[in-house]
Amino acid sequence: APGAQEFIPPQADTIEQLRSAAAGCRGCGLYRDASQTVFGRGDETARVVFVGEQPGDMEDQKGLPFVGPAGRVLRKAVDEAGIDPGHIYLTNAVKHFRFELRGKRRIHQTPDRVHITACRPWLVAEFARLNPEVVVVLGATAAKALLGPAFRVTKQRGELLPWPDAAQRPEDFKRVPVDNTGKVADVPPAQLLATIHPSAVLRAENQDVAYEGLVADLKVASRALA
Ligand code: URA
Ligand code: SF4
Repeated sequence: APGAQEFIPPQADTIEQLRSAAAGCRGCGLYRDASQTVFGRGDETARVVFVGEQPGDMEDQKGLPFVGPAGRVLRKAVDEAGIDPGHIYLTNAVKHFRFELRGKRRIHQTPDRVHITACRPWLVAEFARLNPEVVVVLGATAAKALLGPAFRVTKQRGELLPWPDAAQRPEDFKRVPVDNTGKVADVPPAQLLATIHPSAVLRAENQDVAYEGLVADLKVASRALA
């Protein structure tokens, strides 16, 4: 897979320009079976940006991130943590839906490292334009994209972390590619916080406990913005 890099146009200054370019991305094989690219969405002046895994079945159909059950849990938890859900930006580590067909049902499949790596240029291009103060990574896939494969959400959730530069090659994160000409921009320092994915709340044996844990983690992000 060539990766998303070559699909990022030189003059894409805005999220809208990135979004329209991403619609034609063929940076990995996932565009083939999915319906459409699901780019990030929300308040482009948001101080906090949330990164999920990949669009789900409903997101794939609608072309919008977090419009299904996980999105409802997330917005409720965000609100309860004291962050205005109207002033956030939501995106995913991987921007096409990966699934397995079982009969007529499309079953979610976790993206592989190749997909995460191929898609990461879109994510860092978003950060460079959004300039968030806090990035919240939701679940293991988003954590892998930004903190490297060794990071364990279960061990380090709810902690404000410095922008990761030791976890993986610093050039991936500190200096983000602006376009396909090799031009780079310094990413303004943001803090990062990892927590569980809202779908893990829905799958949990005790949903209330899992949900309260998510809220507690998000309160740490909320306090960092205060
Ligand atoms: N889960 C995600 O990680 N992202 C979405 O957009 C929807 C569900
Ligand atoms: Fe491009 Fe990402 Fe879609 Fe792969 S998943 S085709 S890299 S937008």
